[in-house]
Amino acid sequence: MLELRHLQYSVTENAETNDIIKDVSLTVPDGQLLVLTGPNGGGKTTLAKLIMGLLTPTAGQILWNGADVTALDLTQRARLGISYGFQQPPRFKGIKVGDLLSIASGKKLLRRTEACALLTQVGLCAADYIDRDVDTSLSGGEVKRIEIATILARESGLMILDEPEAGIDLWSFNKLTETFSALHAKRDATMIIISHQERIIALADEIAVVDHGVITRRGAAAEVYPAIVSGAYNTACPARQ
Ligand SMILES: Nc1ncnc2c1ncn2[C@@H]1O[C@H](COP(=O)(O)OP(=O)(O)OP(=O)(O)O)[C@@H](O)[C@H]1O
Ligand SMILES: [Mg+2]
Repeated sequence: MLELRHLQYSVTENAETNDIIKDVSLTVPDGQLLVLTGPNGGGKTTLAKLIMGLLTPTAGQILWNGADVTALDLTQRARLGISYGFQQPPRFKGIKVGDLLSIASGKKLLRRTEACALLTQVGLCAADYIDRDVDTSLSGGEVKRIEIATILARESGLMILDEPEAGIDLWSFNKLTETFSALHAKRDATMIIISHQERIIALADEIAVVDHGVITRRGAAAEVYPAIVSGAYNTACPARQ
């Protein structure tokens, strides 16, 4: 189970403090698929990076399976089974797709058939990609799907995917939603997917709306999503102090 207790994250620049995450408390039970959604700049990616250990909270605690992981770094959290797929994935010059999948899986050498199966799950024709470098020659959608394949390879207990739909074509997107749905059906992992996409939201057990650094609403997808679409959570630009 993932538990966030009064999580806060602020940045201070030029003597001005910006409270990006204000006070977030959230519990995600094992095996749940939670979709985080909300307006651009609401704080979703920041929240994901805090959970993964890419950012350090200003206050509050993060507990994973009952253990306080707030002081642990990214590598230590990865060892505990937490993984994160970036909104804009990094590229790794000189590393082949197959090697990256082996590294992610923790196996010295992932069998070619296993690596190919992972690429197929994200809608890539495995034979075309397995020996390619994960460099700038890959398109945005290709690198995004390869990163999702590395997360699948990790078989983590907690997968956080940041806008997996971004830049992905409709055909591959269908494959990706099927993959997420099948993964969720097994309930081996807790999944937090940051998304603005109705088809992904439809897979969720629950949705949480993150806006101006707080969770403004959490509930069943069937209940919360229609309210979002109807404009119930449209927020006005807060007045400057
Ligand atoms: N290092 C930083 N310094 C200053 N402001 C920051 C910093 N990092 C993030 N922000 C601001 O914090 C807010 C939340 O950013 P975040 O990336 O978490 O939003 P998001 O909900 O993921 O948005 P999107 O839907 O566009 O991906 C934004 O207003 C962003 O500009
Ligand atoms: Mg984001």
